[in-house]
Amino acid sequence: MDLDKQKVEIDLLLEALFRLYGYDFRNYAKAHIRRRILHRLEASGLESISLLQHKILYDQDFLNVLLADLSINVTEMFRDPKFFQAVRNLLVPRLETYPFIKIWHAGCATGEEVYSMAIVLKEEGLLESSQLYATDFSSTAIENAKSGIISTDSVKKFTGNYQKSGGKQSFAGYFTARYEYAKLNESLLEKTTFAEHNLANDSVFGEMNMIICRNVLIYFNKKLQDRVIELFYKSLCPGGFLCLGSKENLQFSSLADNFTPLDQAEKIYMKKYQ
Ligand SMILES: C[S@@+](CC[C@H](N)C(=O)[O-])C[C@H]1O[C@@H](n2cnc3c(N)ncnc32)[C@H](O)[C@@H]1O
Repeated sequence: MDLDKQKVEIDLLLEALFRLYGYDFRNYAKAHIRRRILHRLEASGLESISLLQHKILYDQDFLNVLLADLSINVTEMFRDPKFFQAVRNLLVPRLETYPFIKIWHAGCATGEEVYSMAIVLKEEGLLESSQLYATDFSSTAIENAKSGIISTDSVKKFTGNYQKSGGKQSFAGYFTARYEYAKLNESLLEKTTFAEHNLANDSVFGEMNMIICRNVLIYFNKKLQDRVIELFYKSLCPGGFLCLGSKENLQFSSLADNFTPLDQAEKIYMKKYQ
């Protein structure tokens, strides 16, 4: 395959997605985008990326399939249990001093991360004084997240994560079983607002005490990572916390000096008071 031609075809496809539908993947990591597009090309049996582009222009269902390919919704409850342990041990004592807590989960996928936070806040007696915002650019992911539904198999799978994160209650007790599905107790989601928000082109999202954006920046190039870190900086109160994923950090950012690392291993930072 001619790699130069392929690069042009990918650029044109991304341009079409942006100009026609407003989805801006132009500053995502090239290797990730290429891998996902080639995966869809192979699965579709089409001969070239140009034909794939033609199909997304005229076939809404196919467009949705490609959008799902490009947004990796993989997530878990209590993913990286040590991170949630650090939230309990390091952040909860600080959050307890606030009369009201605003938390933003950016790139929340199908909701498992914000469900986990709601459980931690409930167990620590902070849920009542909290407002959580869970956003993603994928409308399908947000619809799933709102439902509070996961599979019963997942409940079994996530129980170990919950226990490793320091959870001591009955994890299954947070769900009502319905055949092969389990629904998170509604009271846990009463303090969460779900909304579509695109980190590539939407703006600041309120005055937050804590922003959790885990396993999202890895898909972006440096330019888009910079944009998003600036967005988070502007959205955080002084003294607010920024939590990134295990493979992400602030070292690359020109705003790094405006944050104090609180836990280097768990990628937890605090916006400095200036
Ligand atoms: C791998 S998941 C991470 C989910 C969760 N934060 C976690 O760590 O388990 C990445 C999520 O980022 C979302 N995402 C990708 N690009 C985005 C953008 N420009 N704006 C908002 N969300 C985006 C995807 O739709 C996906 O749900």
